[in-house]
Amino acid sequence: MNFELTEEHRMIQQMARDFAENELKPGVIERDEKQYFPKELLQRMGELGFLGMMVDPQYGGGGMDTVSYVLAMEEIAKWDASAAVIMSVNNSLVCWGLEKFGSEEQKQKYLTKLSTGEMIGAFCLSEPEAGSDATQQKTTAIDEGDHYLLNGTKNWITNADIASIYMVMAQTDVELKHKGINCLIVEREAEGFQLGPKEDKMGIRGSDTHSLSFIDVKVPKENRLGEDGFGFKFAMKVLNGGRIGIAAQALGIAAGAFERALEYSKIRKAFGTEIMNHQAIQFKLADMATEIEASRQLVLKAAFEKDAGLDFSTTSAMAKLYASKTAMKCASESIQIHGGNGYVREYHVERMLRDAKITEIYEGTSEIQRIVISRNLIRA
Ligand code: CAA
Repeated sequence: MNFELTEEHRMIQQMARDFAENELKPGVIERDEKQYFPKELLQRMGELGFLGMMVDPQYGGGGMDTVSYVLAMEEIAKWDASAAVIMSVNNSLVCWGLEKFGSEEQKQKYLTKLSTGEMIGAFCLSEPEAGSDATQQKTTAIDEGDHYLLNGTKNWITNADIASIYMVMAQTDVELKHKGINCLIVEREAEGFQLGPKEDKMGIRGSDTHSLSFIDVKVPKENRLGEDGFGFKFAMKVLNGGRIGIAAQALGIAAGAFERALEYSKIRKAFGTEIMNHQAIQFKLADMATEIEASRQLVLKAAFEKDAGLDFSTTSAMAKLYASKTAMKCASESIQIHGGNGYVREYHVERMLRDAKITEIYEGTSEIQRIVISRNLIRA
């Protein structure tokens, strides 16, 4: 067993840290306030290889392992959790899903552009009445020979406005329940596609979230991912990997909140000394650092299992469950250590608490992670 990162891992980690500190940190408060993510930053993330990190170089990606990916995610999420979710959805759900389950034509047509950031993708599973209970898809994809006729509404879609393609889960055969669901790649230009209003969110406000509507959208058969009826299994398998990305995002928020608290405790004075000298603060810092390290080990283990071709669904759910709880706790404790300053925007940590909350909700709530973990344990 070896806990050492390779030289290459360290380089990627450092590159992501530099990018986050020099290019993401400067405008992060304004982006949060005004709810936008500039095209130039997205383009820069593409140039640096952050949008298709694990994709095989033959499709324009970085050909890196999942360990590299989570190291970069943590650093980026330390300063900008919105940039991290844009990256997570594109890398783990869209690119990985296409590379693992897509046809060669789909990879040539879409993956080569998604991996460089020329295109961004969105993953569309949730619906107004199908959030946690994801088998209850009301969006329909009727088989009409050479194409599917797609109708329905999707909710809470990350990257909805910056995306060029959408991976849409839809019910083709109701009788077959979840085994009658397909995943279709829908292009933004498709007739009948409609972008709904932007959600005004509590956190990750730099990343855009919208509902989407599909009204009689004709999707060519060659845009189906995998065999007929594979759509639900596809979504579940892809989400196992997505949860590693969100766990790394949560880890980054926790670690960012901790770093801000440690820094502040060294300069802020109370009762005649820097607050780091008070045991009340020391114990908070010790607990935060311990839980962050435990989260990091779970995230790295899930990434290692994925790279080794092992079943990683239990560990990825554990990593997300634990890291998201740690993000909430560390952001809240960091505000407490900052006192009144923690409650104002310029110190960053109030944003981190708002950003942390979603990590307990999207890509499967904490309650869903417990279902995934316990079912796997019982089945084993
Ligand atoms: N990995 C692989 N397969 C899985 C799986 C997993 N983690 N979880 C379920 N499955 C498979 C089951 O094995 C089963 O397959 P078979 O029919 O072949 O046996 C099938 O999926 C159906 O599963 P269940 O019988 O267990 O169905 P269920 O309704 O009791 O539970 C669920 C399903 C696990 C709760 C599922 O609905 C779920 O994961 N819900 C959460 C949905 C979610 O994570 N949404 C996130 C939206 S995407 C998002 O947030 C992205 C973003 O924009 C940031």
